Amino acid sequence: MAKPKALLLGKLDHAQNSWNALSGLAELVTSNARSRDEFIKECIGGMHDGVVAICDRAPSSLATTGRYDEQLIEALPKSLKFICHNGAGYDNIDVSVCTARGILVSNCPKVVDEATADTAMFLILAALRGFNNGIMAIRTGTWKGAVPPPPLGHDPQGKTLGILGLGGIGQNLKVKAEVFGMNVIYHNRTKLSDEMAAGAEFVGFDELLARSDVLSLNIPLNSSTRNMISTQEFRKMKPGIVIVNTARGGVMDEDALVEALNSERVCSVGLDVYQQEPAIHPGLISNPHVCLLPHMGTSTVETKTKMEDWTIGNVRAALETGKLNSVVPEQAHLL
Ligand SMILES: *[C@@H]1O[C@H](CO)[C@@H](O)[C@H](O)[C@H]1NC(C)=O
Ligand SMILES: *[C@@H]1O[C@H](CO)[C@@H](O)[C@H](O)[C@H]1NC(C)=O
Repeated sequence: MAKPKALLLGKLDHAQNSWNALSGLAELVTSNARSRDEFIKECIGGMHDGVVAICDRAPSSLATTGRYDEQLIEALPKSLKFICHNGAGYDNIDVSVCTARGILVSNCPKVVDEATADTAMFLILAALRGFNNGIMAIRTGTWKGAVPPPPLGHDPQGKTLGILGLGGIGQNLKVKAEVFGMNVIYHNRTKLSDEMAAGAEFVGFDELLARSDVLSLNIPLNSSTRNMISTQEFRKMKPGIVIVNTARGGVMDEDALVEALNSERVCSVGLDVYQQEPAIHPGLISNPHVCLLPHMGTSTVETKTKMEDWTIGNVRAALETGKLNSVVPEQAHLL
């Protein structure tokens, strides 16, 4: 019997050896495609027949695949059973179409928690303290900025941090924020066990908006969370709220956010993610009360290495056992 094939899409930067070590289990193949069209042609032409698992080294694979939508998934070889995605968020993969075709999908939970929560904490401090004003001003040669000086910031001590989505990243952020003296409340679809909540108070969604001095978004993007924070929700927030988003840009309506900033309902914002990356709303770029990062949440050597190893670990599990170590929750019942 011919060995199964495993297809690497995108470039591994840290764990090439872990990938090479799979060669006893599968024939390791790559794609020559420089675009989504070329990749679909390769698939339809039969070049990838026999591929059982894809190691999707996102985001560098994105240029080759684009979204895993119905068109792409239909073109994938019939032999394909597993897509192992190198990211925590998998909103680029239509899981229901994968399920219908009998393809299981894995992501990278846990290994991203520290670096993403660190990024959220950085943005919380930057937004609360108004550090972005200073960062912008000092390079213009105006020291703290033109007269009148920018408003003073606020201390995290004693402030209420509302975490929307107390999963792995949210729980990690909670621990870090408490070190800075913040009180943590959270909202999640399902209330966590007391052990997992570890003292964070569970509140309803509207109460989270009304009580948070700082709101951190830590939910995945999907059809039910898209634009979850929009005009209505900004109206329910505590005036002068600070918001940070390290999840996905699509969970917050950027037009509505710019309006809420302009009307000073929202005091300041820290963002790592945007609705149409790499495009950024001009109303965010021009506003000194908005601290912007170019989607750097997991950008550390340690975390990127762990993510690649985790993704390749899923490919290995797929080849050895026919199972995934971290199948996405929508498919948990299928394993
Ligand atoms: C938070 O709620 C979501 C559903 O919205 C659920 O999938 C997740 O498991 C919950 N988190 C925890 C840690 O219970
Ligand atoms: C979207 O994500 C939320 C939060 O994890 C989850 O509760 C919900 O089931 C998901 N919705 C869909 C349509 O997948």
